[in-house]
Amino acid sequence: MKIIAFHSYKGGTGKTHLSANLATVLAQKGYKTVLLDLDFRGPNLQTLTGIETKITINDLLFDPDLSGEDILISFEEKYNIPLFIAYASTDFRKMGDIVRADKKQRQRSLKRILRLRDELSESGFDFVIIDTSPGVQMESIDGLVISDATCLVLKADDFDIAGTKSMVNQLYSLLDSKNYVILNRVVAETCPPEAGVWSEKDMKLVEKFEQTIKDEMRLEVVTSIPCFCEVAREGSRSIFSLKHPEHPFSKYIETLAEKLLEGFFPPPS
Ligand SMILES: Nc1ncnc2c1ncn2[C@@H]1O[C@H](COP(=O)(O)OP(=O)(O)OP(=O)(O)O)[C@@H](O)[C@H]1O
Ligand SMILES: [Mg+2]
Repeated sequence: MKIIAFHSYKGGTGKTHLSANLATVLAQKGYKTVLLDLDFRGPNLQTLTGIETKITINDLLFDPDLSGEDILISFEEKYNIPLFIAYASTDFRKMGDIVRADKKQRQRSLKRILRLRDELSESGFDFVIIDTSPGVQMESIDGLVISDATCLVLKADDFDIAGTKSMVNQLYSLLDSKNYVILNRVVAETCPPEAGVWSEKDMKLVEKFEQTIKDEMRLEVVTSIPCFCEVAREGSRSIFSLKHPEHPFSKYIETLAEKLLEGFFPPPS
């Protein structure tokens, strides 16, 4: 089983959309996949999938009698793919419990996340895709610690680049995971770029940002995804690539999935 966390320095870079769409694409390829919401401070997956649940990962962190089975919602029947989601609670009281947790509870929470990981692995899951809160929240760091790879999502924006750089230098350097940088919501001169392919002028702009990231963070950008009006217009009402599999955004997610799969399971040389 492989675990991939989506994380960012700033909010609103696209972690929730990219993680949900990637989990869907992996499940469409036949991989048994869990989308795990560790964004306890601003959970969005219930809205994105139009599902309301009572028992969530928040409960699992506080109640030793709960297990993965109690919190996983199956989408196997609804979408005919092996996709499962473990939601974070949107109940403000339960969100507050996480924020106010003392050191002992944080240690218990990490232990229960590790137990959940082992349980998912024993149940034959292939992938766990984690959505996290931006910045250096403890719960996000827990998600990063248990991951094999991190998708670090940022916008082509100097604030974002400067903050991400310090996070990479001070936090990521301590972690033992493979890092994939994703530039998302890139605003091109021609909007939207035809069929998702950059014009020559826009390509130069994107390459400049990719080079800055390479120079300043010593990390390669795995993909640069344009800001698509259709994605923004959808208003976070659905998992986009399920509804619009032929749209260029969905093709970018497909390419991302292939690159991640190649990184985990390189073809024999
Ligand atoms: N490639 C894209 N093109 C256009 N809009 C996008 C794209 N990716 C994400 N968005 C939009 O950007 C907004 C923020 O996305 P999302 O909620 O996934 O970000 P986030 O990083 O999870 O935010 P937070 O840090 O608050 O959890 C949403 O309105 C979403 O529709
Ligand atoms: Mg989010």
